[in-house]
Amino acid sequence: MNISKLMLIGVAVVGVASVSVAYAKSPRSEKQIAAENKALMDAVAKGDALWHDGRLGTNGLACGNCHPDGSATNPHTWPKYQTNLGKVGTMRDMINWCVAVPLQGKPLAFDSDEMIALEAYATYTHRGITIAPGKDEQHGAVPVKSGPGYP
Ligand code: HEC
Repeated sequence: MNISKLMLIGVAVVGVASVSVAYAKSPRSEKQIAAENKALMDAVAKGDALWHDGRLGTNGLACGNCHPDGSATNPHTWPKYQTNLGKVGTMRDMINWCVAVPLQGKPLAFDSDEMIALEAYATYTHRGITIAPGKDEQHGAVPVKSGPGYP
């Protein structure tokens, strides 16, 4: 093996090593963890607002009219076969089904801030529940405030 081939292999090894270092999660400070938790809670709050303000639809309905406090979204049961979708899908597929059908709105890009916020809100309101893909289970509503976007 000549020297240039050896150098190439060396570069490849260093490359792989540096990639794995870059992706490894390094210990984070309390301050960093607090900032990351705040970013999540900002997404949950954005989802809460979208859930109730009716902005995603065209007929005055909001998610909260039929899913108070994120109920009956069942984030712990995805992915699963959903009859309305006619396939095994994700919660994001079904969020878009509800944007398009009951709300008569424009489906969201799967990686949009709005989609992530809706998923964050629905999932956060079900925190602590056992993950059970495909489980046929509705999660009951909990008491809600009243006002626009609420039942
Ligand atoms: C007019 C009532 C109505 C509104 C408003 C509504 N949905 Fe739905 N939602 C439904 C119905 C009906 C289903 C289907 C239930 C089934 O198939 O078991 C459903 C199902 C879902 C599911 C899947 C539940 C499951 O386990 O299969 C998710 C997630 C969901 N909705 C999210 C949303 C979001 C997010 C919004 C607002 C953008 C919204 N929904 C607005 C009626 C509504």
